[in-house]
Amino acid sequence: MKINFEFVDKHYAARTHEKMKEVLMDPNGDGPVNYYYMIRGGKEQKNITIWEPGTVCGEYIKTYGHYHVGKLDETYWILYGKAVAVEQKLALDKEGNMIPNVVEEFRAIPVKAGDSIHFASGHGHLCANVGGTYFVTADDSPVGFEDKKDEASMPGHADYLLVQKMRGFAYYVVEYRGKPALVKNKLYKEIKKQDLGGLLIIEK
Ligand SMILES: [Fe+2]
Repeated sequence: MKINFEFVDKHYAARTHEKMKEVLMDPNGDGPVNYYYMIRGGKEQKNITIWEPGTVCGEYIKTYGHYHVGKLDETYWILYGKAVAVEQKLALDKEGNMIPNVVEEFRAIPVKAGDSIHFASGHGHLCANVGGTYFVTADDSPVGFEDKKDEASMPGHADYLLVQKMRGFAYYVVEYRGKPALVKNKLYKEIKKQDLGGLLIIEK
């Protein structure tokens, strides 16, 4: 396989606490400087993500979450640790645009090393690290270093704005009596269908 070494120094990025405040259940909570680290090799070489363990005001350390631009599915292979993967598909208006606060289908999926998860095209996704160790994945989403400066941190295939607008997904993954549970994000108006993966919903 031919690797393009020209972009190697651009492969790495980290998601900071400052940026994550936009999507935290409690933006005033204390968290690590960096929540997760990304090394982007793209579809062929794969992308590696490493999550810090821990909670911020009870919410497990998570990825920011995004929707894919255009028709693009994605597979994550869990290499180490334990997480709850969160997937949501937004309802569409008459023009086919996503309605930010109406969820057609929500899923929480507990995962561990050895599992893989497939996210269908149009399904937003994030993972929350619910173990006491780093959580590590490989995924096959594309990168395009040629046309974008900040590709490692904010790849062109991902739309973060809908998540930013809603301050996260429809539920936050929180620690409750030592185990993962869910807290509803009250900014969402409706969730039409949900599969919570056996997790409890608690009030915060
Ligand atoms: Fe993705």
